[in-house]
Amino acid sequence: MKTKTIKLHVWRQSGPNDAGRFETYTAENVTEHMSFLEMLDDLNEKLIADGKDPIAFDHDCREGICGMCSMVINGYAHGPDERTTTCQIHMRHVFDRGWDEVWIEPWRATSFPIRKDLIVDRTALDKIIQAGGYISIRTGSARDANEAPIPKPIADRAFDAATCIGCGACVAACPNASASLFTAAKVGHLALLPQGQAERMSRVKSMVATMDELGFGGCTNHGECEKACPKGISIDFIASMNRDLLKSLVVDRGDAEAPDEGA
Ligand code: SF4
Ligand code: FES
Repeated sequence: MKTKTIKLHVWRQSGPNDAGRFETYTAENVTEHMSFLEMLDDLNEKLIADGKDPIAFDHDCREGICGMCSMVINGYAHGPDERTTTCQIHMRHVFDRGWDEVWIEPWRATSFPIRKDLIVDRTALDKIIQAGGYISIRTGSARDANEAPIPKPIADRAFDAATCIGCGACVAACPNASASLFTAAKVGHLALLPQGQAERMSRVKSMVATMDELGFGGCTNHGECEKACPKGISIDFIASMNRDLLKSLVVDRGDAEAPDEGA
């Protein structure tokens, strides 16, 4: 079993108003089988034993589902491996890259104020959801799947959008700190399904307006969001969102009807 000593430069910041700075630590006896977060747990145990403040970082499921483990690792949101969250990184991946030194930072975006060290406040993403990421019609109890047939390509596309875990890596990776990929995923999965049609036009307008109000930047097609997204959500959803947004403006003027489902 390979073990290594890794030098860590970790962003430490006591709260939103602290200027923050990098502090350097040495993680000893790091094994290839440890996860990246276990390596930080181990370091934290040593810091606590030495009477020092442990590094604050977000995590929950540790299996790529919850979207909590937000950190920028050597300049990459969630690290450099594609379709991988921070909690899914193992130290063997770090060893394979030949990294003896790792820089760890929080998501950097005005709309994500830093709470402490590597923890950011992602309430802004919740507010975008509250602006329209729901359906208000009564859907009753669960129906048989074949009662509302949905063509497989549309069901697959809706599922792809629904895999967004709300981690915010797309915002952290974007030079404009845009939340377009997140918003487009949430708009997209409802826009593709019959249940989402009733509010399709008002939803897109409200969610995009809220995204803008909360200080996220606009999309200028850099594509960094798609690259950083641990769920591989395509920027095609941003194009679909923009198309619906334009349609919603036309519907508002009374020049057109709302689009058919799946259109
Ligand atoms: S679109 Fe991808 S990167 Fe953005 S919040 Fe969703 S899962 Fe995370
Ligand atoms: S801790 Fe849940 S996705 Fe990483």
